[in-house]
Amino acid sequence: MRLNADFSKRIVINTNEMPWEASPMAGVDRRKLDRIGDEVGHATSLVRYAPKSYFSPHTHGGGEEFFVIEGVFSDEHGDYPAGTYVRNPIGSTHKPHSEDGCVIFVKLHQFDADDTAQFSVDTANAAFGPGVVKGLSVLPLHSFGQESCALVKWEPGTVFNPHKHWGGEEILVLDGVFSDENGHYPKGTWIRSPHLSEHHPYSEEGCLIYVKTGHLALDQSPNLQQPSWKDTQ
Ligand SMILES: [Fe+2]
Ligand SMILES: [Fe+2]
Repeated sequence: MRLNADFSKRIVINTNEMPWEASPMAGVDRRKLDRIGDEVGHATSLVRYAPKSYFSPHTHGGGEEFFVIEGVFSDEHGDYPAGTYVRNPIGSTHKPHSEDGCVIFVKLHQFDADDTAQFSVDTANAAFGPGVVKGLSVLPLHSFGQESCALVKWEPGTVFNPHKHWGGEEILVLDGVFSDENGHYPKGTWIRSPHLSEHHPYSEEGCLIYVKTGHLALDQSPNLQQPSWKDTQ
C-alpha cells in the first residue's frame, strides 16, 4: 500500500471526517494518514482501542512514536493517559492494551537507527516555555538530527511569523482551531507540509498542536540546515 506517500505534496485531512477501518485485531480500529507497506512499514495513523481490547505483542522494527489523544493506553511498562507522548525505539517490544479505551496518534518505522531514546512525557502536567512570539508557548518533546517534535500552545489571537519549512512540517491539531492563509484547521486536522513550503500561521480562538519538523524529504537536501523549533513554529 502507498497512501499519501509523496512527501513533496501538501496534505490536509480533517480526520473527524474519515471512517474507522478495522485492523487485524478485533476492537482496534484506525484511520490511515500515510503509509508505505501494509502491516509493517512507514505508517502514520490514528488508532482507536475499544475498552478491554489489546494488540498482539510486537517488536518495533523501525521504531514507534505515539501521542495519547483520549482515554488511557497501557502496556506492560505502564499506563499512559491522554496527553502522554511516548517513544519506543527500534528493537523495543510491548503488548498494548486499553482497559477503558483510547485513541492514539502513532508514527511507525520513521526512526533513525541511532535514535535510541526510550521515554514518555506526561504533557498534561509538563511546563511549557515561552515561544518566539507573544501568546505562544512550547513544550519540546524530542530532537534528533534534523528532526524536532514539540507541542505548541497558541493563546487566542496569536499570530506567528511567516516562515519556510526546512525539511517539512507535520501538524496534528489537538485542540482549538489552527489557521494560516490557506485555511482553518479544527481539532483533529492533520497537515503535512513539504520541504521548503511556506505559510503564515495564526490562531483566532487559540489551539494546541503537535508539530514535527525537519523529517520530510531530507534526502533531497543533504546540506540542509534545520533551524531550531523556535524558528519554525
Ligand atoms: Fe507498538
Ligand atoms: Fe509552519
